Amino acid sequence: MKVDLIIAPIRELHTLQGRSGPRRGRDHGDTGVIRDAGIVVNDGHVASIGPAHEILREHSSELVVDASKSVVTPGLVDCHTHLVWAGDRSEDFVRRSSGISYEQIAAEGGGILSTMRATREASVEDLTDSLLSRIELIRSLGTTTCEIKASYGLSPEGCRNELDAIAAAKSKTNLRIAVTFMAAHAYPPDRPQEDFVELIRSELLPMAAGHPAGPSFNDVFCEVGAFDVETTELILRAGIELGLTPKVHADEFNVLGGVELGCRLGAASCDHLLASGAHQFRTLAESSTVAVVMPGTAHYLGKPYADARAMIDTGCAVALGTDFNPGSSMIPSMPFVLGLAVSKMKLTPEEALVAATVNAAAALPDAIPEGVGTLAPGAPADLCLWPARTLGEMVWQYTFIRPTQVFIGGRAA
Ligand code: NIG
Ligand code: FE
Repeated sequence: MKVDLIIAPIRELHTLQGRSGPRRGRDHGDTGVIRDAGIVVNDGHVASIGPAHEILREHSSELVVDASKSVVTPGLVDCHTHLVWAGDRSEDFVRRSSGISYEQIAAEGGGILSTMRATREASVEDLTDSLLSRIELIRSLGTTTCEIKASYGLSPEGCRNELDAIAAAKSKTNLRIAVTFMAAHAYPPDRPQEDFVELIRSELLPMAAGHPAGPSFNDVFCEVGAFDVETTELILRAGIELGLTPKVHADEFNVLGGVELGCRLGAASCDHLLASGAHQFRTLAESSTVAVVMPGTAHYLGKPYADARAMIDTGCAVALGTDFNPGSSMIPSMPFVLGLAVSKMKLTPEEALVAATVNAAAALPDAIPEGVGTLAPGAPADLCLWPARTLGEMVWQYTFIRPTQVFIGGRAA
């Protein structure tokens, strides 16, 4: 049968096929690996998977890709980024080298607020251009689906400009994008705090919910110096009323109760969790909320890593993200994050790959097509060829590896 694309033979194919939904417990390390495999793609989707010799005997195509020297995985899913920003934070980076902490810089009005100022000053065109160049960068590193937060405007015009830039970028790229609105990232110094909370609830969230960028999620930075648990709940509930599913930046530096709140409100994910402990892990394990860990942030800020090993052992569905942002994680690379997950968090390469594909997709419910993060028949044909013989060898090269080929919806990207 003539088909659009055949990838065969494949040295090591990680299909991530299996039961739908995020993986936990023993399933967390099951990548559905097949050696000497082949994939058939038609109409942008995986049509079938099987032994290479059968696939090649039964199908023909003008496009046959030899992956006999490659590991093939689903395209990576980066479920947490702050990809829209202007300006730079090199000054923060350099100041931290003299011992000044991230929290101290933020308390002095730098940090997120310095990016707020630069983002507000930028035009929508400039925001779109820089966003598109970051999208190109992450795709070249193997990300085919990503979440993008509008998180630095912190004013009606600033937030709208960020969403306009996301909508414009979405129309110009085939990368799959889930959008999160995050006005509650920091209190802007230009209005009283209660007024800003009221503005978010009565003006910013309704504006975002009706914006063509199509946000699915509403995120709050629940932290000392940012939003307390009570205010986080008010803002998340206001989003729920408008159809926006909660996400929470929780326990990044202090355990405040953001995890317990997120799980109680049915959050899609609680993210960061650097300071979380056994109680939070049990709460997450007993919920449908995905535990998103981002070792790049700990690495970048010189903080202790989240205990993802204990999370998996407790039964949490763990996902990985880059947290790519100019302040706390100037890290675009999901392979780099996979390497940190293995070398610093003591996940197996298989557990890390599950966290960067199916489980990351599960942190973006209803925002991306069904099947993203897997290569099961019927799933979108989003995949990467990696220059490695095994998954272990891929992860071992984490500081520099890039895919040799990326396909999104069956098209070379
Ligand atoms: O996820 N924690 C809060 N927000 C970002 C940092 C943003 C920034 O420093 O600009 C984060 O780490
Ligand atoms: Fe973040």
